[in-house]
Amino acid sequence: MVDLGVDIAGVRLANPLMTASGTCGYAREYEDFFDLRQLGAFVTKSITAKPRTGNQPQRVVETPAGLLNAIGLENVGLARFLDEKVPELETLGVPVFVNVAGAELSEYLTVVEALSDVPVVRGVELNISCPNVKAGGMSFGVEPNQAAAVTSAVKVKCGKNILIVKLTPNVTDIAEIARAVVDAGADALSMVNTLTAMVVDVATRRPILANDTGGLSGPAIHPVAVYMVHRVYTRVARAAGVPIIGMGGIQDWRGAVEFLLAGATGLAVGTAMFADPTCLSSIREGIADYLQKYGHDRVGEIVGALQLNRSE
Ligand SMILES: Cc1cc2nc3c(=O)[nH]c(=O)nc-3n(C[C@H](O)[C@H](O)[C@H](O)COP(=O)(O)O)c2cc1C
Repeated sequence: MVDLGVDIAGVRLANPLMTASGTCGYAREYEDFFDLRQLGAFVTKSITAKPRTGNQPQRVVETPAGLLNAIGLENVGLARFLDEKVPELETLGVPVFVNVAGAELSEYLTVVEALSDVPVVRGVELNISCPNVKAGGMSFGVEPNQAAAVTSAVKVKCGKNILIVKLTPNVTDIAEIARAVVDAGADALSMVNTLTAMVVDVATRRPILANDTGGLSGPAIHPVAVYMVHRVYTRVARAAGVPIIGMGGIQDWRGAVEFLLAGATGLAVGTAMFADPTCLSSIREGIADYLQKYGHDRVGEIVGALQLNRSE
């Protein structure tokens, strides 16, 4: 019997698999399709201090091997999340990580502080891909000093919750941002968020999304995400003892195992859930079969086991 349990900065998960933020709502949306107790942890969509209606439609468009979305962080806001969604999440029976977004630092702090004494919440995942309105709209996550500033400010408001910082791939060197947030107190990293992209309607000569640009997810970004996880693991996370939650285009056990070998301890699945809401079960079984086939007792034995062809 293979042990699939993993430890994310002190939070014990029965297996490495989680939902990717924003792709499974607040959980109840998926309960008719999939037994959520099979998850290692549930990750909510981004929560902001005030409710947000999100962007105008069209907000989603399919691409070859991918999905482009510009939902615009639509969510019920902190007060309704606490009143209505937390009681539902309490019935799940698995640890919950709440993804937190903000247009300015004070918004992150308000939400993170309010979650610090909610028992079912075990961690916050900081979405630093949001534009910082006070700094001219540049994303918090693309500049090391800003990424570090939001991380260290949030860290002191976390209380019992672990702080997972979610990295954007839309940067020159993701390891530089990882280093900044780890030094600023991140307990774990999750990566990657979507890649900024555009799809054009050649008849109207306009972008298909009302927002013009969106975030690309799904199999198209998987090799990029695997590379970035490996880079952050070898440059920053391994030495710092900080676990990585890998995501981006996982659709089967093979893609999941790639992330584990590259250095991820946890795994999140998003876009693939739209095509097959039950895929997490087969991915979990596939990981267990792989471990058994190669003579491993625990999933941790293959984390970072990748051997490069060239010495670095
Ligand atoms: C429709 C949709 C909505 C998303 N919403 C959020 C969100 O609210 N917050 C966030 O941090 N990431 C959000 N993401 C990004 C995912 O959590 C994930 O990082 C990305 O999609 C890559 O994983 P995947 O290829 O398995 O989907 C969203 C992705 C999609 C497709």
